[in-house]
Parts: sequence; structure tokens; C-alpha cells
Amino acid sequence: MTTKPSSAPWVDEPFHLITTPSTYLSDPHSYVHVASDMAHAHNVIIRGLNTIIQQAPHVPTSTEKTYNAKDVKDLLFYVHSWCKMVGHHHWVEESFIFPEIEKVAGQPGLMDNPHHQHELFHGGMEKLLAYSQATRPEEYRWSGPSGMKEIIDSFSKDLTGHLYDEINVFLGLKNVDRNIGMLYDVFPVVLGCADKTYECGHPFPPLPWIMPYLVKYWFGAGNGAWRFNPCDWWGRPRPLAFVRQTE
Ligand SMILES: [Fe+2]
Repeated sequence: MTTKPSSAPWVDEPFHLITTPSTYLSDPHSYVHVASDMAHAHNVIIRGLNTIIQQAPHVPTSTEKTYNAKDVKDLLFYVHSWCKMVGHHHWVEESFIFPEIEKVAGQPGLMDNPHHQHELFHGGMEKLLAYSQATRPEEYRWSGPSGMKEIIDSFSKDLTGHLYDEINVFLGLKNVDRNIGMLYDVFPVVLGCADKTYECGHPFPPLPWIMPYLVKYWFGAGNGAWRFNPCDWWGRPRPLAFVRQTE
């Protein structure tokens, strides 16, 4: 449940937030973990969209007495930043997370549906990004034929529908849970114990170059166990965290 700062409209509407799966599934399994992490990321996107929809209509335009060019400039930069953030999320999924999930699940095409859904809102998002970059503050309008509302309305339902659906795709990974679990335990310990400098260097483990990044920023993030690893995610030796340093 959202803790609203006041009774005024906030960013839990018009598009509702996702209930984190770990709050209603007591199952301590990896697919619940992946789905919950994805729910957090998607709620960031949904709050950002609601933020724009709640406030942009009330930022005075150049036709109004209270118009302040800086307010519009800041709003457009906010929109630009949100578009880039959403684009980055889907780029990471398409380039790294989806292929990796399909590989560990041993099911090519498993993530085809969310991948295709990306195409439904991609054009609209590009248009909004272009609008936020090219519009001069005095030209900014919320409503009307060339306003920002029309662009957002053209893709917001497809985008949010996708953000809701994708959580169910991850929740459907229950039957490949054991393989996915390896991304959270086996891979981080392998990467952290594979000293790539040993005996002048060995290219082990034979994992895709992206794996250290995925483990660092996604699957291994926030887990203190990896402090015990003797190497960083790229196989570079580092001092042990829990050893007493000798003088
Ligand atoms: Fe996602």
C-alpha cells in the first residue's frame, strides 16, 4: 500500500502500481525474487509516468499569465530523463536479461511475448523523447492536437499493460526455478572465485562478457555474501574483507 504524503493526488494513479509478488507469495524461490525485482523496477517506471500525467497539465504554458519558462524547461527535461530511463530498462532486458533467462531456462523464444510488446509502445516513446528535446518552452502545450498529452495517450496503455504482464511472465518461470536460482548463488560464487590473473591469466569461466555486469547490477546486487569473494566480478583479486591485515 502506498504511503501518500497528503490527500492530494499522488503518483499511485492513474496507472496503478504493481503489488510486489514477495508480499503475497511466501515461496522463497528464485522466480518470486526475479518477479519482485522486476516489479520494483516497473513501479519506478509507472510512478514516473504518473508523475508526468499528474503535474504536466498544471504547468502554465506561454498563453497563461503565470507562465514561467524555467518550469516548462524543467518539466521537459524530466520527461526526457524518464523516456531515457524507460528506454534503458527495455534495452537491458532485450539485450541481456531475456536472452540469459531463455538460456538458463533452456527454452528459446520464452521471452518472445514481452519482447514483441516492447514494439507496441516503442514508437510513441521515441516521439515523446523527440518532443521533450525539440520543444521550446514557449511552444509547450499539454492538450490539443500537438500537445504532449496526445503523445502520452498514444502509448501509455500499451506500456503499462506490458509492465503488468511481464511480472506474470516471470511468475510463470516456476518450473525452471532451479536453473534461475543459479544466477543468484552459483554464478556469483564462480565469478568471485575465478582469479583471471592466476598463472599469468586464464580465460575462465567461459561465460558471456555481460555476466559480470548482470551479477553486479541485478542478480548479485544487495547480497552481502559476495563480500567474502576473493575477486571482483571481473576476476581481479582483491583483499579479503574479513581477514586481519598484518603490518
Ligand atoms: Fe521489465
